Parts: sequence; structure tokens; C-alpha cells
Amino acid sequence: MPLFYQHNINQDTKLGIWFIEEPESFFLAKVPLKRDVSHPFKRRQHLAGRFLLSFLFPDFPLEEIRIADTRAPFLASEKYHFSISHCGNYAAAIVSTNSRVGVDIEHITPRIETLASKFLNDEEAQFFNEDYAMFLEQWGMRGRVFQEFLTLIWNAKEAIFKWYGRGELDFKKHMKLEGSINLDGDWIKLPFVFEKGRSIHLSVEGRIFEDQALTLAWLLT
Ligand SMILES: CC(C)(COP(=O)(O)OP(=O)(O)OC[C@H]1O[C@@H](n2cnc3c(N)ncnc32)[C@H](O)[C@@H]1OP(=O)(O)O)[C@@H](O)C(=O)NCCC(=O)NCCS
Repeated sequence: MPLFYQHNINQDTKLGIWFIEEPESFFLAKVPLKRDVSHPFKRRQHLAGRFLLSFLFPDFPLEEIRIADTRAPFLASEKYHFSISHCGNYAAAIVSTNSRVGVDIEHITPRIETLASKFLNDEEAQFFNEDYAMFLEQWGMRGRVFQEFLTLIWNAKEAIFKWYGRGELDFKKHMKLEGSINLDGDWIKLPFVFEKGRSIHLSVEGRIFEDQALTLAWLLT
């Protein structure tokens, strides 16, 4: 059973990553397929994400999942709040009985450097491209570590987008990395301010799975 990682964040909230190697029939035995996902691999990713919801909380009512106009999945009963992400053979999910949540998982690739200007605001770009890059260069660590961190920030913003759930967010304007980044064991704490209508301070936690070249970020409020 390839549960790759599980983190019980608190009594009410669990996070998991599944390594997808089972055939579709394995997931279909548990998960009702409601949407037409034509690509077989994408279908397996989709099913694995939902499977993970019920793996984390066995009484998760999968059949009650609805899709909002923004494409965010939700339970009308709000019995659980949840968020799903997949990349390659990995599916990640976070489920909470009482908090709104968001999660995102990504592979680390050099391409993130060319995408950065699309999601970093001016202050973040200055920090990453000047201060942080120069600091890493001094230690001969510019390439890989830089990409890991940029990917984590991308993760964090995607997780905030999913946590918000209502779409229509500007990644540069509505989500700002502000304050100092701290380490808590394997987790990197990223202080974000969400600014749409009012300001909300969010603590996004991220982690790098170096061996698998994966990053993951989640948040709950
Ligand atoms: C919706 C979005 C966040 C999905 O991210 P992704 O990296 O493409 O895909 P992931 O595998 O991480 O996540 C997919 C899951 O997110 C969930 N999801 C989809 N739309 C969502 C939304 N609006 N809100 C919350 N969750 C959503 C679904 O559960 C989906 O999986 P499923 O269809 O199997 O259930 C992304 O496509 C998006 O629209 N991002 C915001 C816009 C953007 O990127 N702007 C550019 C700024 S540089």
C-alpha cells in the first residue's frame, strides 16, 4: 500500500501523499467516478486524490463531493474541508473537520526560474533574485536550492488559491510573502498575507522531499 507520507497536523486535520502505482480498478473499488476524465493517467490521478480523502478519514462521504463554478470541489454539508493536488505519480490531500485548507504538490524543475516572474511580486522578486540568489551563490548553491525555494513559493500560492476556493486571485497582488521564514523540523514556515478585501495573515508550511525532487505546501485557517 504505497502511502508515501502522512502527517497528522492536529486532532482534526490530516495530510497525506499517495504514490500512485495501483491500477484504476483499485481506486474505483472505493471511489465513485463522477466526472468524465478522458486521459487514463489523469483519471488515475483524480481517483487517487479522492481515494486519499477516504484513506485519511474513512467516513469521508466521497459520493457527496460537489464541484463549484470555480472548479473547487466541496462538501455542501461541510462535514469536512479538503483540498487535493497531484503531480506525476503523486497525489496529495489535506482534510480537516473544522478548518478551511489548501494543498499543492509539485516536481522541482529548472523551469520554475522562467515562471517566477508570473507569480512573484516586486518585493518577492527582489528578495529571491537579488538577496537570496546572491547569498546562495556565495556558497555555490545557486541552482538547485534556488529552484527548490521558488517551487515552494509557487506551491504556497497555489495552496492559498485552493484554500480561498473562489477563483479570481492575482498571485502577485493578493498573496504576499511578508516576514521571516522559519524552520520547524522538516517544515519551512512561510508567513503570507492574503489581501483581498481585508488582510489575513496565513501560515503556509512547506516541505522539500529532496530524494523525489518534490515540494509540498499546505495551510489551514
Ligand atoms: C486550479 C489550480 C490551482 C489547480 O492546480 P494544478 O497545479 O493545475 O493541479 P493540482 O493537481 O495541484 O490540483 C488539481 C486539484 O485542485 C482542485 N481544484 C481545482 N480547481 C480548484 C479551485 N478553483 N479551488 C480549489 N481547488 C481546486 C481539484 O481537486 C483538482 O483535482 P481533481 O480535479 O482531481 O479533483 C490551477 O490550475 C489554477 O487555476 N491556478 C490558479 C491560476 C494560476 O495559476 N494563475 C497563474 C498565476 S502565475
